[in-house]
Amino acid sequence: MKLSKRIGATALVVVVSLTGVCMSIAAQSDSQPPSIQLKEYRIERAISEEAKGCIECHAEQTRGIVADWAAGRHAHANVTCLDCHGVGPADTDVSKGHLQFDKETKISPVVSPKDCSRCHPGEAAQHAKSKHANTLEIIWKIDPWLNHGMNNEIERSTGCSHCHGTIVKFEGGRFDKKAWPNVGVGRINPDGSKGSCSSCHTRHKFSLAEARKPEACGQCHLGPDHPQIEIYKESKHGAIYDAEGRDWNWNAPAGMWTPGLDYRTPTCAVCHISGAGDVSTSHDVTERLAWETQAPLTVRPADFEPFPAVDHNPKRERMKMEKVCYACHSKAWTRGHFFRFDRAVDNYNDVYYTPAKEIIDELYEKKLLSKEKPLDEKLEIDMYELWHHEGRRARFGAAMMAPDYAWWHGFYELKKKFMEIEQQAEELIKSGKPAKVFEVKGTGGDTTKPDFAP
Ligand code: HEC
Ligand code: HEC
Ligand code: HEC
Ligand code: HEC
Ligand code: HEC
Ligand code: HEC
Ligand code: HEC
Ligand code: HEC
Repeated sequence: MKLSKRIGATALVVVVSLTGVCMSIAAQSDSQPPSIQLKEYRIERAISEEAKGCIECHAEQTRGIVADWAAGRHAHANVTCLDCHGVGPADTDVSKGHLQFDKETKISPVVSPKDCSRCHPGEAAQHAKSKHANTLEIIWKIDPWLNHGMNNEIERSTGCSHCHGTIVKFEGGRFDKKAWPNVGVGRINPDGSKGSCSSCHTRHKFSLAEARKPEACGQCHLGPDHPQIEIYKESKHGAIYDAEGRDWNWNAPAGMWTPGLDYRTPTCAVCHISGAGDVSTSHDVTERLAWETQAPLTVRPADFEPFPAVDHNPKRERMKMEKVCYACHSKAWTRGHFFRFDRAVDNYNDVYYTPAKEIIDELYEKKLLSKEKPLDEKLEIDMYELWHHEGRRARFGAAMMAPDYAWWHGFYELKKKFMEIEQQAEELIKSGKPAKVFEVKGTGGDTTKPDFAP
């Protein structure tokens, strides 16, 4: 080992010094064209017997899987079943059951971002630092349903975990059924890596085109508390996508997918992930955001306490987002939009959230509301919905050009909710009697914070 390492080091020195010599020669004689560095490509078409075995048997056993694989880029690039499911030294998830079908080759059913990172290190590194990959840790830091056991395991595993992810446990060659199957965006894998790439690139096509379409995001980004897909469908961008998106070019290579040429209006991916002009592609979805508009009080991403964005300058990130718009809009058009969005953020913070929170805090102080458990008094639910439902919809609607969400599902509902909160608070103060504490149904979920790095 040591010897070969040393030989390697010597060889490296030789190469470096040779390059140095070449460079000085090139600098001396400028009549000679500089030599071009040729990339070395080798196309290996041979498939090992083991890898062939998987395909042949699975073409009968699970035909749909082989067909999807064959239709995707991996089959074209000769990336086989074994390249992803093969067992590496760090894999603890060796399937015992599978040895009855294939005695020769051990396989691992979980294919984690760490497995993909062998060939896609850049995407995996960006994803790993994103809020997507780290969401389990984030929600366990702040979420009242989890930390106070206000819902039960059944409700969690059919709801929360489906989108956010589970902690995948694989012990004695078998899965814990409560946590598997799961492709939540921040699931924790047996090898310790976080997330699931197939949240957006479903197996076994692992398609770029699929992830570029809004439906890929809309599986999770929907509903009363984060209706981004509904907002998108309402916007002009979404309406044009609906009308003619099927004719756009979805398959351009990453970095070459060009606004105005390959597509006429942006999708979620265009504004939040894909490259455009000199803005490069990133799997870290907090890039390009100037705000955390999902938080109770809107703050800058670097000031978001549970998971502060690292090295994040909101002005610089806003500029990146604006540059995406400039491919199709003027500066005046773009800046007018952001001027109005930023005012809507202030309006929500100052006119609705802050004063509502003052009312609720006063009731806690006067012991008219009980702090013992969250979400078991009507006013606590109302305050929760004020920021988590209406308040988000107002901000998201303003950010992503959906007037119905900004106003009717947003600011209008905020006004109404504020009245309801004010009225109940006045009644409590007048009567001096504490609010009714409800016996919430379906509670009892485990409240021990899980280990996020198994
Ligand atoms: C002789 C047939 C045969 C061969 C060869 C074979 N498999 Fe399988 N494999 C199966 C069967 C049958 C199942 C179970 C399907 C089911 O549960 O309905 C399975 C299941 C799997 C699963 C899912 C396991 C789980 O726990 O969900 C994976 C992943 C898998 N095979 C990958 C491979 C890979 C990779 C190879 C090549 C190294 C391979 N298989 C070779 C027959 C085979
Ligand atoms: C690019 C990586 C990759 C390749 C190549 C690949 N798989 Fe998979 N496979 C996955 C991922 C990801 C999953 C989902 C498990 C997970 O989320 O960790 C999966 C799941 C499976 C499952 C269980 C899924 C189910 O719905 O029951 C089977 C069976 C399977 N693969 C077989 C195969 C076979 C056969 C091939 C070759 C034709 C193959 N895989 C090639 C990544 C891959
Ligand atoms: C052994 C190497 C290898 C592994 C492991 C691997 N890939 Fe790939 N992947 C490739 C190659 C090669 C290509 C084709 C070249 C390209 O498009 O970048 C590709 C292409 C892709 C593409 C672009 C597909 C398209 O439609 O253009 C996606 C997305 C992708 N891989 C995702 C994944 C995911 C997710 C995993 C893990 C589940 C994974 N890959 C595992 C080698 C690999
Ligand atoms: C339909 C998918 C889905 C379900 C079900 C779901 N969530 Fe979420 N959750 C999301 C998405 C998407 C976001 C991001 C919202 C945004 O930024 O607009 C989110 C955001 C959050 C946040 C805020 C994270 C932050 O950075 O502040 C918490 C906490 C949370 N969810 C907890 C839960 C819990 C607990 C459950 C179950 C009781 C649950 N969620 C159910 C998709 C879901
Ligand atoms: C499997 C579910 C799922 C899918 C699919 C998904 N997301 Fe998310 N997304 C989430 C969850 C959960 C969060 C909240 C993470 C947190 O803050 O804890 C989130 C957060 C975000 C955020 C907010 C980041 C921040 O700093 O607050 C953006 C932006 C985002 N997603 C964009 C996208 C885009 C674009 C797509 C599609 C290409 C997508 N997401 C697909 C679940 C998903
Ligand atoms: C939130 C959704 C989402 C998740 C999760 C996700 N991707 Fe992607 N990915 C995308 C989108 C959108 C694109 C298209 C970017 C573009 O248009 O250039 C993409 C592009 C890619 C490409 C093509 C880049 C190229 O240079 O050809 C690869 C490879 C890839 N992703 C791998 C991964 C891997 C590996 C993971 C897990 C570590 C992952 N992705 C997780 C949404 C996602
Ligand atoms: C035209 C560009 C554009 C499109 C298309 C778009 N968004 Fe956004 N999105 C934005 C802007 C701008 C913001 C606010 C950015 C900021 O904080 O400054 C935003 C905010 C968000 C947030 C809130 C992040 C946070 O925590 O504050 C999420 C989540 C999100 N978008 C997801 C999506 C999803 C999912 C889709 C598609 C269904 C989508 N976006 C479509 C531009 C876009
Ligand atoms: C690929 C081109 C493209 C990109 C990129 C793009 N847009 Fe658009 N946008 C359009 C088109 C086309 C329309 C429809 C124009 C019309 O109303 O006639 C539009 C409409 C709009 C509208 C008018 C909405 C309405 O309902 O009247 C606003 C505001 C807007 N875009 C803002 C933005 C912002 C902000 C960004 C960047 C975050 C952006 N757009 C990125 C193409 C684009």
